[in-house]
Amino acid sequence: MHRSRHGASPALPRRAVIAIITLMRVLIIGGTGLISTGIVKHLAARGADVTMFNRGRRASTIESKIAQITGDRDDFAAFESRFAKEKFDVVIDMISFTPKQAESDVRAFGGRCEQFIFCSTVCTYGVKIPATVRVDETFPQEPISEYGRNKVACEKIFLTAHEQKKFNLTIVRPSSTYGPGGRLIDNLEFNPPTWDRIERGLPVLCSGDGLGLWVSTHRDDCGKLFAHAALNPKTYGQAYNATRDENFTWRDQYREAALALGSRANVIFMPAAWIVAHDPQRFSLLREITQYHGAYSSEKAKRDVPEFRCEIGFVTGAKQTLDDIRRRGAWRDSREDALYDEMVKMALSAGVEAVQL
Ligand SMILES: NC(=O)c1ccc[n+]([C@@H]2O[C@H](COP(=O)([O-])OP(=O)(O)OC[C@H]3O[C@@H](n4cnc5c(N)ncnc54)[C@H](OP(=O)(O)O)[C@@H]3O)[C@@H](O)[C@H]2O)c1
Repeated sequence: MHRSRHGASPALPRRAVIAIITLMRVLIIGGTGLISTGIVKHLAARGADVTMFNRGRRASTIESKIAQITGDRDDFAAFESRFAKEKFDVVIDMISFTPKQAESDVRAFGGRCEQFIFCSTVCTYGVKIPATVRVDETFPQEPISEYGRNKVACEKIFLTAHEQKKFNLTIVRPSSTYGPGGRLIDNLEFNPPTWDRIERGLPVLCSGDGLGLWVSTHRDDCGKLFAHAALNPKTYGQAYNATRDENFTWRDQYREAALALGSRANVIFMPAAWIVAHDPQRFSLLREITQYHGAYSSEKAKRDVPEFRCEIGFVTGAKQTLDDIRRRGAWRDSREDALYDEMVKMALSAGVEAVQL
């Protein structure tokens, strides 16, 4: 169980003693990123004593004052020695992508925290569709991308540390997560011209028939799972999907994002292979992830962490995100995108008609 390391002075009034005893010390590696902003928000609401570790390249948008340590986690020697004398109740690592980073975490935090929460990804499952349709945590991990394979390797390193009782491990696997501070993907790429084209009344592209299952989860909903898994013993030694689990397709994603813009989406459906062949690097999201099945069950997370409920609808979340992208001056203007224009012209001249959603 969690115990205070502050020690309770007998001179303190009873209420203050209780407040000190319940303070939870959390270190979050990352902290100003997309998902970590959602986590910090919910940890602050829980009254946790939160410290962020990041390079200081972006400011936190959280209103509560959060302690910050500036550093680079890839400078392993400096990173590990910075925490050699520190103890946290919970360490959350948002940015381990390689086994070397995971091994550095184990050296830094093994024996120095009660719980270690690792942010993994649903890309660790690969692309098969289970009989139950939604992928749950029992589904085999057979990733097809280097990103997914590396996350599986990190999970294994942390699980070994858990088995060696260096800390209690909780693995959280988000799927596509969006919200203010981030971007809004379409079916083709991470930072698409699609939303600008929809606003201009121009047709946009989607692969297949747009009926593939997909899910986009708001960072504030996703963040709840991390924040409320903290010091929840039911989550020790467990892995959780962190997604909305309602029925949603690519058609819904385009239609609802268009609604958020006060518009309608005119979508041309083309084979994924045809789109990717035009620029495999540019359309790597489609090549590796979005052309495949993307529906997950978060029943296990809801069972063990009852505070985790996804409450932000996609139209509301997409509006927040697109407004924020515009405010930050990061809006992608589609007018200079000759390749996309050319692809739309080719599809239309081949007789494929745009479908209004
Ligand atoms: N976003 C998604 O759709 C999604 C889906 C599935 C899984 N995930 C997983 O979620 C995790 C977080 O993703 P995200 O998109 O929320 O991240 P993000 O927005 O890129 O945020 C990264 C955070 O880490 C800090 N950071 C980056 N490099 C650092 C370094 N070398 N040393 C110290 N701090 C560093 C950044 O601040 P500074 O730049 O100031 O250092 C920032 O606070 C990742 O592990 C990813 O695999 C994300």
